[in-house]
Amino acid sequence: MLLTAISLTDHAALSEMPEWTAFSHAARNASTRSKALRIINAAGIDLDLSGQTYSPELAEATKALLEARQFGARRDMLLSGGIVNETEGRAAWHTALREAAPEPDIAAERERMNNFIRVADSERRWRNIVHIGIGGSDWGVRLAVNAFGYARTWRNVRFVANIDGHAITGGLAGLDPHDTLVVLASKSFTTAETLQNGQRALEWLASAGIENPNEQIVAITARPEAAKAWGVPEAHIFKLWDWIGGRFSLWSSVSLTTALAVGPEVMAGMLAGAAATDAHFAEAPIERNAPVQMAIAGIINRSVLNYGSLNIAPYDSRLATLVPYIQQLEMESLGKSVDLAGNPVGVPTGPAVWGMAGTDAQHTFFQWLHQGSDGAPVDFIVCQAADHSWSSHHESLLANCLAQREALLNGKTYNEALAECLATGIPADRASWLARHKAHPGGRPSTLIVLPRLTPYTLGALLALYEHKVFVQALVWGINPFDQWGVEYGKVLAKGIAGTLSGGPDVDPSAHNASTTHWINVFRKSLNHPE
Ligand code: F6P
Repeated sequence: MLLTAISLTDHAALSEMPEWTAFSHAARNASTRSKALRIINAAGIDLDLSGQTYSPELAEATKALLEARQFGARRDMLLSGGIVNETEGRAAWHTALREAAPEPDIAAERERMNNFIRVADSERRWRNIVHIGIGGSDWGVRLAVNAFGYARTWRNVRFVANIDGHAITGGLAGLDPHDTLVVLASKSFTTAETLQNGQRALEWLASAGIENPNEQIVAITARPEAAKAWGVPEAHIFKLWDWIGGRFSLWSSVSLTTALAVGPEVMAGMLAGAAATDAHFAEAPIERNAPVQMAIAGIINRSVLNYGSLNIAPYDSRLATLVPYIQQLEMESLGKSVDLAGNPVGVPTGPAVWGMAGTDAQHTFFQWLHQGSDGAPVDFIVCQAADHSWSSHHESLLANCLAQREALLNGKTYNEALAECLATGIPADRASWLARHKAHPGGRPSTLIVLPRLTPYTLGALLALYEHKVFVQALVWGINPFDQWGVEYGKVLAKGIAGTLSGGPDVDPSAHNASTTHWINVFRKSLNHPE
């Protein structure tokens, strides 16, 4: 493992760098309405950036900015296991998990996992899997199972993440406990949601008269000793490494559930696709480097054009879970505004990420995207070929995707709208009024990502594309994409309040604001004396 530190801690704030001034100036002078086709292919995926800001001057300014941020050296550090997560003093080496010939302990752990699956399959065991995990220990697995098990999985898979007791109640309801495997995925093995839900699942197994309920529990964690102390049999504990961030952990045994549900070959395909993106990221020149160019488009949209959010629109119902997956990846990684030197970044950083699968999204919020006062850049994601035989459905899906994108990009001028109204025989007075409502501003940036078809390989390649995009954006902004101190703080506060609610000492009004104090008292009363 290469541990040479190329630190950003002594770097200048982005807003004070002359390279940033030149870059933002070039971006302001460039256009999203360029007619030029700009498509980059990476790992078999086409990234069409024709709807993003571009000019040759901007391309030059991009290179200078990345050079000033030591892009090449930092990328090499990431890919070779250097300490890129500086605030937590560790690597973020998820790419090591997808190497064709991984290091011996990674290969050995994968073999253990595959062996577990072989035995379960040969015995036709575990008709039901209850996957318990949250955040990065949940979204990636859910995404893969939904993407490739959308029609059916031979094992019945339930996901339980939320601490809300309704989630575990629903997650276990109707299952045969005798043929249910409970998978506890938690890197830290301290996450309250996962441990409490796991406890309920264990009780549920025991209450069905199962003699050794712990034998039906599997854990994936970076703290095997904690899982063992919790009662998980040693042979059922699969290792995660400290240098794999939670939101980058689907490349590890966290995907045991995916492999049990849709086959180990799905996981192998995803790893191979991600490895192909890694190779592209490592080798492609800046102007043809897909994650880099995607990152640059995002930085312009957020920090120069001031768009506060990014919309993800997968035109594929199998990829509906891609939205929360990317939401966590981007927002937990880029939701920071202090740089590695400890100073304010000085420009707006990571956008809010939101979305929904198309065409549902069109009937939910696309009106806002078209004519709302703010608008948002959109990542349209679509597969060229479908895996069903209803060709008219796929034609419509593709047509809708292209049409929405074109409307956002081209817009419709007042004169065009007026001509349309007059052509239908609307009187001139009313037409001029109506045309003002029908005009679209246009010029709204978007990226079109085209997968040849949805396969484990292309999904793996797509996810790695977003991962590296996030890395490059963090590098330019000067922030650490691998920590999440804000979330950690909320967890500490929740622990304290939970203690008070469950009958601890009276609430200390000086510790909370008036509203929190009021509701703690109300809830304490109703929890201890339910009506
Ligand atoms: O949401 C905060 C977080 O720490 C995520 O980064 C992580 O994916 C999730 O909680 C779950 O953590 P763990 O896998 O340790 O249970």
